Amino acid sequence: MRYHSQSVAYWYFAVAMALFGLQIVFGLLSAAKYLGPDPLLYILPFDVTKVIHTNLLVVWVLTGFMGATYWMVPDESRTELHSVKLAYIQLGLWVLMGVTAVIGYLFRYGTGNKLLEQPLPHKIVIVVVMLMFLYNVVMTIRKSGRFTTTEGVLLLGIAGAAVLYLPALIEHDNYVVSIFYRWWTIHLWVEGVWEMIQGGFLAYLLIRLSGADREVLEKWLYVIVGLVFIAGILGTAHHYYWVGVPSYWLPIGGIFSALEPAALVGMAIYAYSAMRRSGLAHPNTLALHWTLGSAIFTLFGAGLLGLAHTWPSVNKWTHGTLITAMHGHAAFYGAYAMIVLAMITYALPVISPARREQGTAMGYWAFWLQLVGMFGMTLSFATAGIGQVYLERIMGLGYLDAQLKIQVHFLMLIGTASLFALGVALFIIDFFRYAPRFEVVKDADERIPTPAPVRPVRV
Ligand code: HEM
Ligand code: HEM
Ligand SMILES: [Fe+2]
Repeated sequence: MRYHSQSVAYWYFAVAMALFGLQIVFGLLSAAKYLGPDPLLYILPFDVTKVIHTNLLVVWVLTGFMGATYWMVPDESRTELHSVKLAYIQLGLWVLMGVTAVIGYLFRYGTGNKLLEQPLPHKIVIVVVMLMFLYNVVMTIRKSGRFTTTEGVLLLGIAGAAVLYLPALIEHDNYVVSIFYRWWTIHLWVEGVWEMIQGGFLAYLLIRLSGADREVLEKWLYVIVGLVFIAGILGTAHHYYWVGVPSYWLPIGGIFSALEPAALVGMAIYAYSAMRRSGLAHPNTLALHWTLGSAIFTLFGAGLLGLAHTWPSVNKWTHGTLITAMHGHAAFYGAYAMIVLAMITYALPVISPARREQGTAMGYWAFWLQLVGMFGMTLSFATAGIGQVYLERIMGLGYLDAQLKIQVHFLMLIGTASLFALGVALFIIDFFRYAPRFEVVKDADERIPTPAPVRPVRV
């Protein structure tokens, strides 16, 4: 690495890995409960395991975002971090918040607001941590005086994520109002500002890995981010169809959210064409797998599978069923898990020089097992969801009667999820089996390959 302070990223990544592992344990527990009988019914019921599963997801992904930012900003701004100490205090507070929140959930201490279950004291710590993080990053950039577009998009995403968490701090007695504002955080995170964060990392990785021209990549980054924003903000209304607000939200939600996949098509083309131009020049091909994989899986999980149920006339049947879980898994994994794993895979050979730069065999197994596993899980949720919608909402069967008839899909879910979990385990083992060395090599980023000559296009 080029700057010693980049070593803080490693500890953020290590925490993210541990929480990722734990998230998967609670995912498997939640899935097993669908098959019953459930010996843990009175100790760890489904609602508790699911809350822990989804909260750990949000926390580990955010930990990964923070670590990756602390890795990327010194590289982009060509300077040491403003305060390494502050970065460690931030990590300590964050871990304390995460661990106590999970323990609290075990004892039913939470707000009950889906994905925003954190109790108020924890929410306040989250805000404090976000402020510390922003301060450290902004001061680093100020000190260096070098501010790239890629960094700008990332920073806007982080600041936006912090600001959009604020509506989550206010409690509403009215359920409709409460749901209305919940989406200002959840939807505007995953279909707005977090996509900027993903876009920032994607541009950074593509510039470093493919050697493609920074100016061209950054110009396209603007276009993609612009598209996400235009469609994503009013697209929030795809969560307003059936929650008790006026019916004009139906066409608004349908039209704008149906435009969102356009930005994701743009992102996938962007990543693929950057890779084509480079001719795979950088030795870290495993990081390139994760990077391209993230852009393409986002198009599949968020774009295609989002579009599949975003139109009101479809959503009136599928709302709140396993079809939502199908899309939620593929989208979250492709966009946010994979981009964090890409940043980690890019940084690891620099942190541990003993590691093969091309990626280890175990690293490739981890990639393909996760990919195949998550694809299978998505199909399992999809087939279960189609059955559920038909039996429950068209044939009028009760919830539990319908569940009994779709058990086979949960067997498929457990099977494919086991492959996925094996892939995660291999990633985590591969992460920890080389000790970090934190050697500062001044020309570390001079590995940026020179782009291959542009091939003439024949029409
Ligand atoms: C990376 C981007 C995305 C992520 C991570 C994501 C994730 C999620 C998650 C976790 C949920 C469940 C939320 C809950 O019920 O609390 C959800 C719901 C939904 N998403 Fe996405 N999503 C993304 C992009 C999209 C896009 C682009 C579309 C449309 C084209 C879309 C359409 C929907 C719809 C319609 C629902 C509501 C489902 C229901 O009525 O139950 N999503 N998404
Ligand atoms: C072994 C792997 C996993 C298993 C077995 C699993 C299983 C489950 C189950 C059974 C649920 C509850 C669905 C319901 O409410 O009916 C769930 C929810 C969820 N999981 Fe996972 N999961 C796994 C990994 C992941 C990963 C890697 C991610 C994201 C990167 C993820 C994201 C989510 C989200 C966002 C929800 C909430 C969806 C919603 O409420 O609609 N899961 N998971
Ligand atoms: Fe949404």
